Amino acid sequence: MELQEIQHIGVVGAGLMGHGIAQVFASAGYRVNLYDSAPATLASAKERIGANCRVFVRLGLAKPEEIEVLLERISLCSSLEALCDGPQYLIEAVLEDIGVKRKVYSDLERFVSPDAILSSNTSAISITEIGEALQRKERFLGTHFWNPPHILPCVEVIKGAHTGEKVFETVCSLLEKTGKVPVRVMKDVPGFLGNRLQHAMWREAVALCENGIASAEDIDKVVKYGLGLRMPFLGPLETADLAGLDLTFEVHRYLFPHLDASTEPSPLLTALLAQGAKGAKTGRGFYPWPPEKLRRIIEARDGVLLKIVHEIVSGAPTDAADK
Ligand SMILES: NC(=O)c1ccc[n+]([C@@H]2O[C@H](COP(=O)([O-])OP(=O)(O)OC[C@H]3O[C@@H](n4cnc5c(N)ncnc54)[C@H](O)[C@@H]3O)[C@@H](O)[C@H]2O)c1
Repeated sequence: MELQEIQHIGVVGAGLMGHGIAQVFASAGYRVNLYDSAPATLASAKERIGANCRVFVRLGLAKPEEIEVLLERISLCSSLEALCDGPQYLIEAVLEDIGVKRKVYSDLERFVSPDAILSSNTSAISITEIGEALQRKERFLGTHFWNPPHILPCVEVIKGAHTGEKVFETVCSLLEKTGKVPVRVMKDVPGFLGNRLQHAMWREAVALCENGIASAEDIDKVVKYGLGLRMPFLGPLETADLAGLDLTFEVHRYLFPHLDASTEPSPLLTALLAQGAKGAKTGRGFYPWPPEKLRRIIEARDGVLLKIVHEIVSGAPTDAADK
């Protein structure tokens, strides 16, 4: 399918990710059909998208009158069949369960047009394995948006074993057209790129906390006020080049034997879960999360991220691959 043929987008799942993904395409001018099997979640989607948009308005990045126009482009659909009426490209963002996802795809294939493109927002599950549910596997790929999807530019585009080359490139172009930064993942490995990098760091962070090397606050501080501040501008391989690969080599030789290499989740994480501490959603994780603190932090996070993204998009020299 050619890029110009895509005029209408479908999103399955209107939860944390799905409503923000719908916002991305509506904000780029596309008509969007949105469906969720939980009626209350679907019903609140436009309210949540409106609240997201008001953060852009507050920072002067959108006009108040644009919110209504954007919301009017989104149709809430009460069935999968209704969702499939129109879209040439559909993204699935239902819960991270291969059985649930496969069922969605086998149902979708009954209603979508034969050449519609389908993608999954899975965080880590093999695209090839999810795609087993489909008859026409060449039209299927992964598109992993990062949370909050309406703010963070990166989308990992993952090629499954059967994904067609043309399908892959059309979706990359579509994402670019919406202002996103597609990252091509050419082999379907669990966790793709971003979650492999992120969880390598989280495994070490949890191990440092568990072993009493530092408090959770101080472990987070070293990222927030140290290495994390470089990250909007420099990736790890650019940073290694700037530090010097000879130094990097010596540090790896000395340090690697001391790093956590567990192949199971840590006992500390297991113990927290046993106590019902699932993080912000239950009010407690590594930290207490009273509702007011959570609201304040999400609002502050979105404001800071938008300013950083705006700065990058407005031309900071960030790509060391440029010649
Ligand atoms: N939360 C994140 O930070 C994040 C980031 C990137 C990717 N993801 C991935 O995105 C996907 C969605 O995650 P989320 O955080 O938005 O979850 P969520 O629980 O907030 O939303 C999932 C939604 O799917 C709906 N749903 C479940 N079964 C359905 C079905 N059969 N048909 C239609 N809707 C159905 C649920 O009602 C729910 O509203 C997952 O694959 C997740 O791994 C999540």
